[in-house]
Amino acid sequence: MKERPLIQISDLHHTYLRGTPLAVTALRGVNMTIYKGEAVGIIGRTGAGKSTLVQYFNGLLRPTQPGRVIVDGQDMSDPHLDVRSIRQKVGLVFQHPEQQLFERLVGDDIAFGPKQLGMEPAARRERVRWAMEMVGLDFEAFKDRFTFSLSGGEMRKVALAGVLALRPEVLVLDESTSGIDPRGRRELLERLLRLHQDHGVTLVFVSSNMEDVAELVERVYVMYEGRVVMSGTTREIFARPAELRRYGLGVPQVTEVAHTLAARGIRLHRTPLTVAEGVEEIWRTLNS
Ligand SMILES: Nc1ncnc2c1ncn2[C@@H]1O[C@H](COP(=O)(O)OP(=O)(O)OP(=O)(O)O)[C@@H](O)[C@H]1O
Ligand SMILES: [Mg+2]
Repeated sequence: MKERPLIQISDLHHTYLRGTPLAVTALRGVNMTIYKGEAVGIIGRTGAGKSTLVQYFNGLLRPTQPGRVIVDGQDMSDPHLDVRSIRQKVGLVFQHPEQQLFERLVGDDIAFGPKQLGMEPAARRERVRWAMEMVGLDFEAFKDRFTFSLSGGEMRKVALAGVLALRPEVLVLDESTSGIDPRGRRELLERLLRLHQDHGVTLVFVSSNMEDVAELVERVYVMYEGRVVMSGTTREIFARPAELRRYGLGVPQVTEVAHTLAARGIRLHRTPLTVAEGVEEIWRTLNS
């Protein structure tokens, strides 16, 4: 599965408003590799630098301070780089969807990317319909809605559909499940999982919801104060609750239950990360 590195970040530094009294250092030497076809989570408490980092993944930010960013074999510091081709390959869904929507109508907003690619109207319409279905927005009901009149969760879905409509090879989601109701969230996670498993889309999932992280990704990077402080498989990371706590993070609730039971002498065969695994492990333990 881990065929080749798609995104390679080495020793990346970023200071906002550098050289002014208001300077804020957001990244302090980040190292990270995203491989083709994997689903990776990036977690870290508020202000850890997650959103700053992912803006380097599609060339929204380019290295101007120490550090190197290679995306699909291309050095992002190269001034002659074709950033458009990178943006098409790596789709970034912003943390704040209102920053991503700019057309008046939902359908036009989602069709913007495909139009730029020169797709014919009929094909474009199908692409928009597909993208809207992927995020759970009814095509007929929403295509002519005003983007400014949408609820927060709807805006998030439209922003995601707009990125999906370009059929990117890598999908970078910055807190994309927040502000969506539990059912919508579950459906969205299932669709993302399908995109990843059936269509081979590489997922980078920034989230502060540990349950979502456990459901979706295979590997996790933990950021703290502008650095990567832990990395490993999702199971390895969530097996280290004390360290996570030190970085202001937790584990999924079902994992917490298992850790608490273990502290009281009740050991499950393996530590569950999801509710489904929890049910299975408790069932096994009760019947053994
Ligand atoms: N445009 C900006 N100008 C100045 N400082 C900024 C800017 N954007 C972010 N920062 C600062 O950089 C640091 C990292 O911010 P960033 O948004 O990358 O964190 P984050 O991990 O995404 O946080 P959250 O979980 O709250 O989204 C923070 O201290 C933040 O205040
Ligand atoms: Mg953020």
